[in-house]
Order: sequence, then C-alpha cells, then structure tokens
Amino acid sequence: MDAVKLRAQFPVLEQIAYLNAGTCGPLPGPAVGVATKVLEECARSGRAGMYFDQMRALSTQRRAAYAALLNADARDIALTGSTSEGIVRVLAGMDLSPGDEILTSQEEHPGLLGPLGAVRAQRGVDVRTVALADIADAVSPATRLVACSHVSWVSGALAPDLGGLDVPVLLDGAQGAGAVPVDVVALGCDFYAASGQKWLCGPVGTGLLWLSPEWTERLTVTGPTYLNLDDPGAGLDAGLAAGAARHDSTAQSLESAVTAATAFVLLASTGWDDLHERSATLAEALAQMLVDGGRQVAPRDRTTLVSWSDDDPPATMQRLAAAGIVVRELPGTGLLRASVGAWNDESDLQRLVRAL
Ligand SMILES: Cc1ncc(COP(=O)(O)O)c(C=O)c1O
Repeated sequence: MDAVKLRAQFPVLEQIAYLNAGTCGPLPGPAVGVATKVLEECARSGRAGMYFDQMRALSTQRRAAYAALLNADARDIALTGSTSEGIVRVLAGMDLSPGDEILTSQEEHPGLLGPLGAVRAQRGVDVRTVALADIADAVSPATRLVACSHVSWVSGALAPDLGGLDVPVLLDGAQGAGAVPVDVVALGCDFYAASGQKWLCGPVGTGLLWLSPEWTERLTVTGPTYLNLDDPGAGLDAGLAAGAARHDSTAQSLESAVTAATAFVLLASTGWDDLHERSATLAEALAQMLVDGGRQVAPRDRTTLVSWSDDDPPATMQRLAAAGIVVRELPGTGLLRASVGAWNDESDLQRLVRAL
C-alpha cells in the first residue's frame, strides 16, 4: 500500500493533524471534485430525469460496495442517512411490547441511547444496561433485542462475541465500518447500522443498514415513501420494493451519492485489509506514545480509537485545535479521543503527543 499516495488524497492533512474520523472522516479531494462538477452541471442544466437516473445507478453501486465491505449481499443493504437512522428504523420496525427488554451497554452513543429512550417512553419497553464486555452473558428470558456498539466510541473496545445468542442483535457500527474488518456473518448479528461520513470518508447524510436475510423483509418498514415502493405509480396499492431498499432513506441526493461513491472507491482501491492494518497499527503506536508520556489510556482493543484522561478535556481540545491538531473530547468522561486512519502518519501522532 502506498501510504504517501493515500495521504495526498486528503487536502485537510496538508496543514492539520486531523485525528477525528470518528466524528467525520477527512474528505478526499477527488470526491469533492466530482461532487462539485455534478452541482455545476445541475446549475447549468437543471435537475431532471438524468439526475435521478444517475442517482439510482449510484444507489445500486453503493449497495454492492457496502455489501462487499461487510461480507453481505447487496439485497440486504439499505441506504440510510446515518447510523442513528438505521438504528431508529430497526427499533421502530420491531414488534416490541410493554415488558419486553432491550439489553444495551454502558458505553453507548446518544445515536443509540436516544432511540432506546424513546422506545422505553413510547412503548413501555424496559432497557437494561450492563458493561459492554458482559453483554452476551446478561441476556435474560425477557430480552427481545441486544443493541450495542461493535466498537465503543468511548474507549475503542470491541463488543464481545455475540454470535449464537437466541435473540436478535443490533450492532451500532458507527466506529466499525471502514475502521476495522467487519464480517456480519462472523459477527452473528441481525442488524448492522453504520455511517458514511466517518470511516468511509463520505458526506454527512450518508449511511447504511445491513439486515440479515431473515429480517430484510420481516422488519416493518418505517414510513415507506416513493423510493421504497416497487411501483410508485400504483398509488395506494403500491407494494414495497424488494429487499432492503424498502428501508432506504428517501432523503438522497446525486451530489451526496457521488461523493460517497467516489470516496468509497478511493479507499477500496487502496485495499481494505491494508487500510485496516495500517490504521490499527498507527493507533496502537499512538496509545503506546501516550502511555510512555505518562498518560492514562482507556483500555482498548485493536481498533482505530485511542482515548486518554485529561484534566480539562474541553480546554485541551481547543488548545490543540488552535495548534492545528483535531481530536475530540468525550463529554462527561474526562477523556480526549483521537481517531487514527490509514491516511494519518507518524508526523500527525508526534504533533499530537508533543502538543499535549
Ligand atoms: C458509536 C456511535 N454511534 C452512533 C453515532 C452517530 O452516528 P451518525 O451521526 O452517523 O448517526 C456515533 C457518532 O459519533 C457513534 O460514535
């Protein structure tokens, strides 16, 4: 893998030690270039049939691309606007009644906690919280769904093996897809929700939801509209589209789709195995540098996130940003977090450690 060539695709890295893909990945210059051309053409020629034809073609391309990344079938990939949207669609579409329990972990993001809180308040479902590492052993007879992170956004720890549970499993893959190897079959999950704007370096407003073949057409569709129908012209009698397209977000745009697809092709052509290996190795090196510098690093696994204790995370984050180093603080935890991608290099890590 040519790491120098990869890095050169991301303009932000020319000046900034950008270590924040866990929020939003760096945008590749070529993806922005293609999107700009598309918008210019729209401004010149308007948006009519061709716009939607191209968008549909890109939907097919992206579904296949995401499926290949996850070891899945394109038929089971829904194109969403975010990880959170995928989570909402799963929770809203499941048959849950008062007294049913959803098991989750203590390290979850509001993108999962918000929908879980709503299901609790609106449908009388119990939500029980345990340590992420203990979640597989905590399933009870009342549990109807396990919903937790694949990779913890707080620590970078991986979920334990959840395969073989006799309840459905929803994985929040916001810090998984594109960051670490993801094989939805090996993970043994039923749903995998992920973001397009983080480790896939796409625009905000893109994401994916994988549903296991058993669930793709079994999950109730939340608010189907014209993009989710097999024959939209059939009016009230229109049926649902085949496969996971019935769960697609209707808020799709050509400019967004083309940015996401171009970024994905750029990463995929570099080679996912190499990308995963390089980012995990760089993250491990950063964790070691922080420990060597006397910092307390949160227990983590071989992922792309590194979090460490800081006396005043908001102030330190701002000070680092002023020095051209972008990390984030994790509210309420006393932690700062660096997201390390294959596009980063040792100079980014050294800048961060020196500035601390
Ligand atoms: C673990 C986790 N889940 C969900 C989200 C929300 O992602 P999205 O904005 O794609 O809904 C994030 C974002 O940081 C996250 O880290």
